[in-house]
Amino acid sequence: MQPSPYTPGEIARAVPGRALQLADLDERLSVLVDLHRLVGRIRVDHAARGFGKTSLLREYQRRASARGATTVWVTAGEPQGLVEQILDELRRTVGAAGAPHGRALREKVESLRLSLGVPGVATATGTFRSTAPDDERARAGARGLEDVIRAATTERPLVIFVDEIQSADAAGLRTLVYAWQHLQAEGTDVPAAVFAAGLPNAPETIAEIVTFSERLAYRPLGPLHRDAEEIALVGPARLLGVQWTPEAVDRALSIAQGYPYSVQLIADSAWAAAGRPDPGTVIDVGSVETGHRSMQADLEALFRARWSACSTSERRLLTAMARLGDGPTSRASIAEALGTGTNQLSTPRARLIDKGLVQPADRGMLQFTIPGFAAFIRSEYS
Ligand SMILES: Nc1ncnc2c1ncn2[C@@H]1O[C@H](COP(=O)(O)OP(=O)(O)OP(=O)(O)O)[C@@H](O)[C@H]1O
Ligand SMILES: [Mg+2]
Repeated sequence: MQPSPYTPGEIARAVPGRALQLADLDERLSVLVDLHRLVGRIRVDHAARGFGKTSLLREYQRRASARGATTVWVTAGEPQGLVEQILDELRRTVGAAGAPHGRALREKVESLRLSLGVPGVATATGTFRSTAPDDERARAGARGLEDVIRAATTERPLVIFVDEIQSADAAGLRTLVYAWQHLQAEGTDVPAAVFAAGLPNAPETIAEIVTFSERLAYRPLGPLHRDAEEIALVGPARLLGVQWTPEAVDRALSIAQGYPYSVQLIADSAWAAAGRPDPGTVIDVGSVETGHRSMQADLEALFRARWSACSTSERRLLTAMARLGDGPTSRASIAEALGTGTNQLSTPRARLIDKGLVQPADRGMLQFTIPGFAAFIRSEYS
């Protein structure tokens, strides 16, 4: 008996199928580490829930660390705001270094926190927090953040990772983007980079906050190709001396449909169904079938949780879409099925996209993001 090497619902240990993303990363790390220059654009990989954004970002982080950069990780959406989160992490990592490097950074961080008006100290400095317009405040904050970044990069290059960037507070995001714009404009070399990940609505959300978006490079993260899926399936087993039969691979891949979370789920369930195999044994199609039945419970729990977080109008839209099939559906046919105008669909549509449950497809169509969700809705709720 060997424990499962798969990672359903956990950070993937390897990210097969993401070679293009990693090649882009390596190029940028080269700019940062070899040329000691700023990576001028903030990269945002975006996809719906479960497509492997966090796993990819963690792989970026491993590679950045391996190249000698200091890394800072934040998951946006905390109450203190994005900039505060970054400052806290910087203080914990770079700021912990001995003098003079660590001290210089701590001083810059403190002065920025004061000027941003950290609760409790804001009044002491009578900051611009309550009076200055948002934009002005963000620009002032950005100059402070620039100073911090400079202080943080005197010894080693710095890479900041921002997961769930669509949840960042507007002020924080604006400050970060402005800081990057200034650093770029000044042309002095500051070896720093920002890599972010977010839901498919990230580009739109960010565009509403910062008027120029050319500072950001958006890259959609797609489903896994067949080869990548196969590597994710057979690779970890092979390391433990276990083989998947070709039929078992085919069946598992037809269940997962390129959705990374489902790949891990079916692989993990088949592993359990095969009795947590010893080295020298195989996983056959029978184990995959048994695994498929047991993974349904996990998948349904996920679907049920997503469903219960939806409003009535969102559920109506989802149900109409599900009845129309698994593929992309047009707004018009959804509206017709619901007996309303397409305008009435705008709000629930936007909310569902924000939640990563559906996404726009070609020609104004809308489609489900997670394989199996439509079938689940059909069987449970319609
Ligand atoms: N390249 C990959 N190959 C195989 N499995 C992967 C890959 N990337 C991620 N996974 C698996 O997919 C699942 C989702 O991964 P992850 O949490 O990174 O996705 P996410 O997009 O950040 O999801 P969420 O939006 O819920 O935060 C996990 O079970 C993870 O192990
Ligand atoms: Mg994630």
